[in-house]
Amino acid sequence: MAAVPLLVDVDTGIDDSLALLYLLAGPEAELVAITCTAGNVPARQVATNNLAWLELCSHPPVEVALGAEVPIVQALMTTEETHGPQGIGYAELPAPTRSISERHAAQVWIEEARRRPGELTGLVTGPLTNLALAVTLEPDLPHLLRRVVLMGGAFNHPGNTAPTTEWNIAVDPEAAKIVFDRFAVAVNRPIVCGLDVTERIALTPEHLRRLAEAAGSTPVELLRPDDGDDDRSRASNVVIKQVSDAVRFYLQFHRDSGRGFIAHMHDPFAAAVALDPTIAVLRPATVDVELAGTLTRGQTVADWDGLWGRQPNAEVVVDADPAAFLDAFIERVGALARRVG
Ligand code: RIB
Ligand code: CA
Repeated sequence: MAAVPLLVDVDTGIDDSLALLYLLAGPEAELVAITCTAGNVPARQVATNNLAWLELCSHPPVEVALGAEVPIVQALMTTEETHGPQGIGYAELPAPTRSISERHAAQVWIEEARRRPGELTGLVTGPLTNLALAVTLEPDLPHLLRRVVLMGGAFNHPGNTAPTTEWNIAVDPEAAKIVFDRFAVAVNRPIVCGLDVTERIALTPEHLRRLAEAAGSTPVELLRPDDGDDDRSRASNVVIKQVSDAVRFYLQFHRDSGRGFIAHMHDPFAAAVALDPTIAVLRPATVDVELAGTLTRGQTVADWDGLWGRQPNAEVVVDADPAAFLDAFIERVGALARRVG
C-alpha cells in the first residue's frame, strides 16, 4: 500500500505521543509535517515534545511548526494534571537539538495542501484552533485536502471536561464550529472520533507488558496501581522506558478520576483511522457545536436524521474493534522500539 501523506496537528500530550509513535512505526504513514497547538500543555512545550520524540526514535527530520498559542476567543486552559507538567507524564526525554520551523502551523497546512492538492490527509488530535485559522485564511482547504480525521467531541455520551463536553472541543469551541461549518463542503466528509468510541479503547498494564516483550526489552515490567509515584521504568529499551514512564502518569490520572488503572487511547486510535478508515464503522451526521449553552458550551451535537434540514457534514465513528487496534498498536510500536533499541 502507498504511504498515506499526513499533516498532523497535535497538543502533545501523552496519548498524542503514542499516536506519533504509532505513525512513526512503519512506511504506511508519510509525516509531511507536525503542527502544534496549545491544549494539554502550552504550544511551545507541545513542539518541544514532538521534536524530542522524533529524535529519541532517531527519525529523519520532520518539520515541527508552532501554531496557535491561545484559542480564538476564550482564554487558554491546559491540563497538566492529566498529562504531567511537560505533557509527557513522568517521561524525561533528552532535550531536542532540532529547531521549531519558521513557518506558522496554518501556513504549513495551506502551503502543503496547495503543493499536493487532493493528496494530504489532515489528522487533528488536539483543539481545532490551527485548522480553523487555516481554513479561514484558505477557504478552499476542504477541497485541497484529501480529507481530515479529528479526535474530538462526544456523541450521546458524557464529556470528559464538562458533563457534555470533550477536551479538544472545550479548549476552543469557536474553532471547532468553524471547522465543522467550513468542511461541510468537503467531498470526503471529516471523520470524527469521539469519546463514545475512544473511551472503549483502554490500554492496560498488560498491554504495556506485551509491548515491552514485542520490543525485546528487559526486564518486562508490569505497572501496578499501588506502585509508588516515584517508581520509574528500568527497561533496557529507551522507547519502552519513556513510554512506560509517560503512560504510568496517565494510568494514575485515570485511576484517580475513577476510571480504573487504564489509559484511554483517544489519539492513537484517530491516527490509526487516518491510516486506514476501514477499521472504523462510520455513520453520516450533521455535527454542530454549542457555543452559547450555559451548561453545554462546547458540546458536539449530531443530527443523525436530518431534523435540522441540513446536509451531513461529518462521518462519525460509531464503532470499532478495541482489541484489534490494541494488538496493532503493540505490533507497530513494539517493532519501532525494537529497531530504535
Ligand atoms: O479528550 C481527549 C483528547 O483531549 C485527547 O486528544 C487528549 O490528548 C486531549 O487532547
Ligand atoms: Ca491530544
